[in-house]
Amino acid sequence: MATTVVILAAGQGKRMRSDLPKVLHPLAGRPLLAHVLAAAAALRPREVRVVHGHGGERVRAAFPDQRISWVHQAEQQGTGHAVRLALPRIPARDVVLVLYGDVPLVQPATLRRLVARAREGKLALLTAGFADPTGYGRIIRAAGRRGGIIGIVEEKDATPAQRAIREINTGLMACPAGALARMAARLRANNAQREYYLTDVVGLAVKAGMGVAAVAAGSVDEVMGINDKAQLAAAGCVLRQRTAATLLQAGVTLVDPARIDVHGSLRCGRDVTIHPDVLFEGDVSLGDGVIVGPFTRIRDSRVGTGSVIHSHCVLESADVGERCEIGPFARVRPGVKLVGDGRIGNFVEVKKSTIGRHSKVSHLTYIGDATIGEHVNVGAGTITCNYDGANKNRTVIGDHAFIGSGVELVAPVEVGAGATIGAGSTISKDAPPGQLTVARSRQVTIAGWKRPARVRK
Ligand code: UD1
Ligand code: CA
Repeated sequence: MATTVVILAAGQGKRMRSDLPKVLHPLAGRPLLAHVLAAAAALRPREVRVVHGHGGERVRAAFPDQRISWVHQAEQQGTGHAVRLALPRIPARDVVLVLYGDVPLVQPATLRRLVARAREGKLALLTAGFADPTGYGRIIRAAGRRGGIIGIVEEKDATPAQRAIREINTGLMACPAGALARMAARLRANNAQREYYLTDVVGLAVKAGMGVAAVAAGSVDEVMGINDKAQLAAAGCVLRQRTAATLLQAGVTLVDPARIDVHGSLRCGRDVTIHPDVLFEGDVSLGDGVIVGPFTRIRDSRVGTGSVIHSHCVLESADVGERCEIGPFARVRPGVKLVGDGRIGNFVEVKKSTIGRHSKVSHLTYIGDATIGEHVNVGAGTITCNYDGANKNRTVIGDHAFIGSGVELVAPVEVGAGATIGAGSTISKDAPPGQLTVARSRQVTIAGWKRPARVRK
């Protein structure tokens, strides 16, 4: 029995007070809908159908490479209407799992439990007990202990007594496709909101003698809906806690577990320490003993064993070898490889360059399109002039070279192994190995020179 997932995502999300369609708002760096799609994909469904309406083109455009069947709902006539539009041509024996685009934290394990009950031929509802059930549909049960579910009543249609019920409908459900299609076709919009309520299938199922099963959510967090920016921020906190808990469990030291953001995947070796307010994006791996200082942002990078990234650094697509030191205040742009035991210091920008073992670029320097050998020392304020206004040109610096402070290396240019470049030089021709090259005007002292005196008027 295969599963077809239907995700309801046509709502406008007025309370977000934003021009962006609700399901595109980012949560931990990915749109809300991406989280729901990931949970759906974990079930290996036959098909995923997404009902979209408001900002439909933008929503579709945000997921270009995923296998999604898009269903357009021009007018939002309710959750029941949305599901009805999504059901044609689903094999009757499939189980249909209904998810909401704005309930992003739901866990695959919970969804599996829900689908399992539907496979028994039941209408399975995901429910939760909320201390404050305001706004949610309430679960109505038959009288007596262990009374079965007989209906769901929406807040707007509920009596005061029903409003006191704390067992709520999360909106997520699973049902055999054939039965769901038959019931959805019979929904009527005779309620306070003049909408087709999906929840009315519960009453229809009870009438038809079909079993209705309640599956309790694993936690209150996983069924939280995102309707406004406060709930979006709260969901961000939940995800941050989940990520931090996983890292702590794996032995990572988080100086403040509430202040780490992982927007993607982070792999850590043993004895890694991460200071507060670090943002990891994309795919990042940190080797054993790595220390990441506060206020640093690392994206799609690898940091080797024993390396230290100090505070206020930005690394993007970097390949940092073992025992390197970067920052504070360093910017490592894409295409940088530090082979090992190297150093990039404060106010240094590096891009598309390789820095060999034991080489140091310690202060206030720009290195672009360069290949730097081993045991090289680049003095403060050195600049590779890699761009001539039309093309990017390479700088090559041989092993054991010493570049004095304030040097301009006008590329394409090569500094030979063991060469020394005098401070303040503008090097526009290759500098031979093993020798001192200086390219600056000579210092003169003018004997007997006097400062001009002020002329009195
Ligand atoms: C719904 C449930 C309610 C439940 C709550 C949980 C119904 C009638 N009510 O109420 O019992 O407690 O969710 O959050 O189902 N959508 C469409 N097309 C539509 C209408 C809605 O795609 O025509 C989508 C929305 O984008 C959203 C989801 O369905 O992702 C839920 O719709 P919403 O209007 O927020 O339902 P609630 O009134 O919150
Ligand atoms: Ca809602």
